[in-house]
Amino acid sequence: MSASAKSKIPTPSDILARKGGTPLVCLTAYTTPVAQLTDPHCDIVLVGDSVGMVLHGLPSTLGVTMEMMVLHGQAVARGLSQAMMVVDMPFGSYEESPEQAFRNAATIMRDTGAAAVKLEGGVEMAPTIRHLTSRSIPVMAHIGLTPQAINTLGGYKVQGRGDDAARVLADADAVAQAGAFSVVLEKVPAVLADQITAQVAIPTIGIGASAGCDGQILVVDDMLGLFTAFKPKFAKRYATLGQDADKAIAAYAEEVRARSFPAAEHVFGADVPGAAK
Ligand code: KIV
Repeated sequence: MSASAKSKIPTPSDILARKGGTPLVCLTAYTTPVAQLTDPHCDIVLVGDSVGMVLHGLPSTLGVTMEMMVLHGQAVARGLSQAMMVVDMPFGSYEESPEQAFRNAATIMRDTGAAAVKLEGGVEMAPTIRHLTSRSIPVMAHIGLTPQAINTLGGYKVQGRGDDAARVLADADAVAQAGAFSVVLEKVPAVLADQITAQVAIPTIGIGASAGCDGQILVVDDMLGLFTAFKPKFAKRYATLGQDADKAIAAYAEEVRARSFPAAEHVFGADVPGAAK
């Protein structure tokens, strides 16, 4: 999308109204400068709990805290003027009860200015989604592979293959009926993603799902080639910034050791101030 194609920050209702229309463009961001880069091109910028793995070096998203989400949400908010910001609810901040979820979702929205929160889970989280959406908190749902559940799912496996498709379909129906304004489908077979997209009245946002979804999302560090610890099959690399950064840092190190940096243009003369450079 060109920057001029957008006039105002979309609301969750605007996103809902995009069902079946031009695909929604979504990326994660965790910092102000990256948010500024994504802003002109995206409908939604997600402050994902992937921040734990991508920026903090955690082995999974399970160690992410409310404090981290609020801090990164505030940083991203400073970089957005066109895209809608959604902030992830971290593991342990919403599963206990709808009341716990409301308290923490309200904190995230109040302290970051997010337009909505995202939480993982299907049928079992539907009462919580209903509780939030009926109390002024828009919810983006996340079903299929839900990374906060890797310990019970047995790893980062494709969800909804074979007989398991009915479970994921039921999850999609449940979160849509509970009032979610959109749903992330992660790592589900393309044919199932297409079936869900046809079946539910809310936009589906795919990650490792199908080009037929109502939108797509990627982790920004994956698509820029900045996060290289591992590469999921669905994470297309549009740039190799990690390699470029490695070359740049190696060149700097070489020049420092050879005393060729700083050069004359990078240092200051001893002349009186105002006379010469
Ligand atoms: O945390 C995250 O970045 C996400 C996206 C991958 C959807 O949940």
